[in-house]
Amino acid sequence: MPSRCSHSVSILTLTSVAILVFLLFVTASRAQTPEIQAASVADRQQMMDQLHITALREGANGNDPKAPNAANYDESKANPYPTLPDPLVLKNGKKVTTARQWWKLRRPEIVEDFNREVYGRMPAHTPKVTWEVLSTVNEKVGNIAVITKKLVGHVDNSAYPQVSVNIDLTLTTPAAAKGPVPVMMEFTFDPAFMAALRKRFPNMAPPETGPSWQELVIAKGWGYATLIPTSFQADNGAGLKEGIIGLVNHGQPRKPDEWGTLRAWGWGASRALDYFETDKAVDARQVGISGHSRYGKAAIVTMADDSRFAIAYISSSGEGGARLHRRNFGEIVENVAATNEYHWMAGNFLKYAGPLHWNDLPVDSHELIALCAPRPVFIGGGAAQGDAWIDPKGSFLAAIAAGPVYQLLGKHGLGATEMPPVETPLISGELGFREHSGGHTPAPNWPTYLTFASHFLKAK
Ligand code: GCU
Repeated sequence: MPSRCSHSVSILTLTSVAILVFLLFVTASRAQTPEIQAASVADRQQMMDQLHITALREGANGNDPKAPNAANYDESKANPYPTLPDPLVLKNGKKVTTARQWWKLRRPEIVEDFNREVYGRMPAHTPKVTWEVLSTVNEKVGNIAVITKKLVGHVDNSAYPQVSVNIDLTLTTPAAAKGPVPVMMEFTFDPAFMAALRKRFPNMAPPETGPSWQELVIAKGWGYATLIPTSFQADNGAGLKEGIIGLVNHGQPRKPDEWGTLRAWGWGASRALDYFETDKAVDARQVGISGHSRYGKAAIVTMADDSRFAIAYISSSGEGGARLHRRNFGEIVENVAATNEYHWMAGNFLKYAGPLHWNDLPVDSHELIALCAPRPVFIGGGAAQGDAWIDPKGSFLAAIAAGPVYQLLGKHGLGATEMPPVETPLISGELGFREHSGGHTPAPNWPTYLTFASHFLKAK
């Protein structure tokens, strides 16, 4: 019998449930308490004051197609700024023609721009994390015996004891593994949130239609891990005074170039990888990172930041993730600068929804993908019919534009120039792409991602 936990996880693979969960998640994350909302408004306002911004443009309305600011879904109007910053031209105008120039000169320029203007800088020093194994359980995933460790990372808060921070992580590896195995780690939803959801919707367990991603991973002889980002950094602006960001800042507001929540979530993923380096069940040189939607944004930031991650699956990451900021399709920069999302980014990002425009950003998301080179990255999402808000084509175009960096480093990009038909994978190189027809869910792309990953990772 699968454990209650693995059973409930596999339920989530169903597309319909995933969509339901997503809608509820979005509703829940927006329906924050009045206190959280008020504190987020105040924090965003103080950031605007620091930046001397008096007004920000309104985001696109994704709910009402008749609204004056309705989100654009017309491809002919989607590219007001078709010229992207060139990842292979230095700020001094010189062309980058060697891998050495990329690593020594151009990559650091791009990193600096993303740090200062987009996601905020990771602090030079972050507190030490001590990992504790809370439990080790023998259970089954599908029919395969596995060992699941529940872990907590205690973050040293001696510098500011008012804020305490712990990282929730779970690791599952095949019991029969003869040695360390590749591990796929996913940023995932808080189990308490999922439990509340199941309580509210007792009939939400429909018949199973296929194996969960966890079952697929275990069947390959690999392991998986789930990391709860909100355990160490809340998903709202009010929470910036707490969590790892609040701990480092001693509860004081951020400066405009300091890290936002996406980068903090990535920091936690790196600490989980530190733990894997000490666990003999894990081959820490073969760890993948994945996430969906806001956690897809976190996953691409993590992959760009920490070169120890071997591979990534970026699902429906949309604006603030792999999709080009310069696109007008579905969600736009202004939405991510709004009160319910601005905390994901650096304070400086607000400027591009106010006095400046998308085209003033010194970098765009193709360069974020390029920061992951030469490591493999698979980008997926639902088709525009069902997942249009996250602008699948905007991610495809970003992946295309990252290709020259992969090529410079002796690897292969997408190997295409036109959007492939829905459900047609492009996985011949180090960049992969596929749109599925299942809406806003990561589940239908997992089998393709694992095929892609098998080109690079091997259980010994
Ligand atoms: C909202 C938000 C997106 C985000 C998504 C999610 O739709 O606008 O940017 O990706 O929520 O994370 O669920």
